[in-house]
Amino acid sequence: MRNILTEKIQKLKRERNAIILAHNYQVPEVQDIADIVGDSYSLSRHAADTDSDVIVFCGVHFMAESAKILSPDKTVLLPVKDAGCPMADMVTLPELRQMKEKYPYAAVVCYVNSSAEIKAESDICCTSSNALKVVRNISNKQIIFVPDENLGSYVASKVKDKEIILWKGFCITHKRVKAEEVKKIRQLHPDAKILVHPECEPEVQKLADFLGSTSEIIKYAGEIPERDIIIGTEEGVLHILRRQNPGKRFSLLSPGLICTNMKKTRLEDVHNSLSSMQYEIHVDEKIRQKALRSLKEMLKVK
Ligand code: 13P
Ligand code: SF4
Repeated sequence: MRNILTEKIQKLKRERNAIILAHNYQVPEVQDIADIVGDSYSLSRHAADTDSDVIVFCGVHFMAESAKILSPDKTVLLPVKDAGCPMADMVTLPELRQMKEKYPYAAVVCYVNSSAEIKAESDICCTSSNALKVVRNISNKQIIFVPDENLGSYVASKVKDKEIILWKGFCITHKRVKAEEVKKIRQLHPDAKILVHPECEPEVQKLADFLGSTSEIIKYAGEIPERDIIIGTEEGVLHILRRQNPGKRFSLLSPGLICTNMKKTRLEDVHNSLSSMQYEIHVDEKIRQKALRSLKEMLKVK
C-alpha cells in the first residue's frame, strides 16, 4: 500500500514538475519521499534556487510562506492547511509597531518562525543557524529581536556590544525541556554528549555540550567520536541521525519533544496535495516585496 502511494507521488511529482521539501521534524515516511530534507535555512535556500514549477512544503505554514515570498512565480503547496507554528503567532503587527516606536533607533531582527507581515516590518530575518552572524553584521547598537526569547537571549549572551530587546515568544515544544531533567540525565549518562536547539530555555542551553539548528545538530552528531548522544530538539531528527550513524546510540532529552504541528503531514497528505494542488500559499504582493527584502538581507549574510 505504502509503495503504491510512493509510486503515485513520484509520478505526480514528475507530471507537475514539483519538488518536495521536508523539514527535519517531519515523520520518517515524509522525509523519505522528499527531495530535500533540512533545517529552515537550507530549505529557504532550496526554495529560492529551485527551477521546479511547484514546491510541496512539508513543514509548517511560515516555512511554506517563506518559500512563496522567495519564489513568487512558483506554486507553493502546504499539504496540511492548519500545520502552523504557535511561536509565529506570538507577535502581531500592532505590537511590533508599538515596540518600534518605543525604540526608534533599533533594527528589527525577526526569526523566520514568523508571519509574512512581521517579516515585512523587520529589517532582516534570521534562522537558528545564522542568528549570531546576522546580529553581529548589523551596525545598530539596539536590536529588537522577535519572536523567540530563548534564541534572542542566546544571541544576547554572545553579542555583548549590542542591546538586544527581547520578545516574550517561545516554542511550546522546546519549552518542555527542564533544566532539572538535563541535570539528572547528565548524572545518569556522564559520558554522553547533550546537543540542544537554541529554542530551549537558557538554563538548558547552559547545561548542553552543543547548541545548534536542527541540521547543525545532525552534522555535529555525525562528526563527534562519542557514541552516546542525547538530543534536545524535536524527535523527527532521530530518523536521519539513526540512519546516518548506525554505530551510535541516540535518545531524547525529554519525552515532550514532539511538535504536533510538524507531525500532521502524512504520505496521504503529500499525495492529495500533488493530485489536487492543495493548499496553495498566497501572499499579498506589497507585503511579499517587503518581506522578501528581509529574507534577502539574511541570505546575503555569509
Ligand atoms: P531549524 O531552523 O533549526 O530547523 O528550526 C526550525 C524550528 O521550527 C525549530 O523548532
Ligand atoms: Fe514552531 Fe516549536 Fe514546532 Fe518549531 S518545534 S515549528 S518552533 S512549535
